Amino acid sequence: MVPFLDLTRQYQRIKGEILSATQRIYEKGHFILGEEVSAFEKEFSHYCGVRYGVGVGSGTDALFLALKATGIGQGDEVVTVANSFVATALAVSFTGAKPLFVDIDPETNTMDPNHLELLLKRRRGKGSGRRIKAVLPVHLYGHPAEMDSILEIANRYDLIVIEDACQAHGAKYGKRKVGSFGIMGCFSFYPTKNLGGYGDGGMVVTNDKRYDQKLRLLRNYGEGKKYQHVLKGHNSRLDEIQAAILRVKLRYLDQWNEERRKKAKIYTERLSPLGVVCPSEKRGIHPIYHLYAIKTEKRDSLQAFLEAKGIETLIHYPIPIPLQKAYRELRYRRRDFPVTHRWSQEILSLPFYPEIRRHEMGEVTEGIRSFLRDG
Ligand SMILES: Cc1ncc(COP(=O)(O)O)c(C=O)c1O
Repeated sequence: MVPFLDLTRQYQRIKGEILSATQRIYEKGHFILGEEVSAFEKEFSHYCGVRYGVGVGSGTDALFLALKATGIGQGDEVVTVANSFVATALAVSFTGAKPLFVDIDPETNTMDPNHLELLLKRRRGKGSGRRIKAVLPVHLYGHPAEMDSILEIANRYDLIVIEDACQAHGAKYGKRKVGSFGIMGCFSFYPTKNLGGYGDGGMVVTNDKRYDQKLRLLRNYGEGKKYQHVLKGHNSRLDEIQAAILRVKLRYLDQWNEERRKKAKIYTERLSPLGVVCPSEKRGIHPIYHLYAIKTEKRDSLQAFLEAKGIETLIHYPIPIPLQKAYRELRYRRRDFPVTHRWSQEILSLPFYPEIRRHEMGEVTEGIRSFLRDG
């Protein structure tokens, strides 16, 4: 068996530190909004190169509360990408706003700035562009979106940019880390992420003090002083146990990201000569390989072949968000997103994480080699 991911191996590396960090919480008996969350907010926002961080209940909530903090709601529209995890669009829908989708760049799998510009031009031409308030690019698989172009276009159309960095902790675009480009950056600490807790969690990072303050209210029932509620807020807080675990793990994040990058290089060196399309890195971009996804026209039969050999793979994502049943009212069609549609048929995520063993990677690459030779 080659598992897609085995989180117990990471736990074994840091078991002692995790146990003493969590024991500290049990002995203190303080579980919500305490010292661990405050410290982690400082440490993680500092890591991202941003002034403030607000710990929330999940990555989905980070996106939802960030959008809500800007006042986006019913009657507004937010442009995002067709190829992402559904939560990106759900967060927009939760505010009452409507998500609009653009296609992705075939190489980076992230928002295609040309499609963004086309959509904005078309909407402005029809006079319906004023409803669009924000752009929500996604740094998918840990690969930064084309932030220079996206920010330039958003600026020209007077739109705010909020980043979905849920899969990209520590990825760099130029010299800066993702999450620091938009007015807010949103992260998930779902257990499988490059920086993951032992349950749900998320954070919004920002340089803007007003958003920091608004988010602190929004995540905690709109409570300013004790039992004084200045707005209708939510209950969405990162808890002390998760924060304590994440503080331990943050110390290893760069090392683990580097291990991922080295292992990605090995896969690419072995697989690209076989004719499968491997992830590529543009100059000045530093992806952190949350996933390692290849593309091949024979995806479905390759996946079945590997499965028969006990090698687990996954598809991120088999159905583009606008074509999901949940969004059928938007009436999008496949031809609206040719690249996303094509990749949804060809993309395959291989077993991949810092602790994956060399012989397991060898089994994966040998499996693909024999499929392509005989299949
Ligand atoms: C791109 C993207 N956006 C949003 C989310 C939502 O994060 P969470 O699962 O923590 O709610 C995820 C992760 O699941 C994600 O991968």
